[in-house]
Amino acid sequence: MTPPYKATPILFYEDMTMTFLTNSPEETEALGAALGKRLPPGTILAYRGGLGAGKTAFTRGLARGLGCKDIVTSPTYTIVNEYLGGRLPLFHFDMYRLNSADDLWDIGWEDYLERGGVCAVEWSENVAEAMEDAVTITLEKLGEDARRITIEGGDFLADLSL
Ligand SMILES: Nc1ncnc2c1ncn2[C@@H]1O[C@H](COP(=O)(O)OP(=O)(O)O)[C@@H](O)[C@H]1O
Ligand SMILES: [Mg+2]
Repeated sequence: MTPPYKATPILFYEDMTMTFLTNSPEETEALGAALGKRLPPGTILAYRGGLGAGKTAFTRGLARGLGCKDIVTSPTYTIVNEYLGGRLPLFHFDMYRLNSADDLWDIGWEDYLERGGVCAVEWSENVAEAMEDAVTITLEKLGEDARRITIEGGDFLADLSL
């Protein structure tokens, strides 16, 4: 397949929910980039989906859509990576090793929220209590390369045209 990659909408916009099917990491990145172009400051993105679902790939696109050229790597060991080169700061979290939202104090979560960036949260399931205002992005592995990606919540979705 040749660029530009496009994610295929398989359902339409309804109740602030959009569902996409992607067939490569590049298509997932393209979807993340489309979102990154439209996100308002202070958005929390709560990813749901297990290892290898494509959360980091999606975030790579997000950074690109925000206009950040830095290389996005998994924050598994650092818990949070900061990317400041784009239209808005991007804070990429991995909550895998957190047990509950109480542990968010230890990583300075409130300080990140105050900085008016985009917080993209892997393993958001572990801190669900703090994700009430988040846009939820569910990534489901349907096959080796196929992913169903559902984006729920957020008014900006209305013009997420791909
Ligand atoms: N459609 C797709 N979208 C995203 N990743 C895909 C897709 N198809 C295959 N992959 C592969 O799945 C893996 C996703 O890894 P990653 O983004 O790190 O997932 P996670 O952060 O959810 O653990 C990568 O090896 C990537 O090449
Ligand atoms: Mg990851």
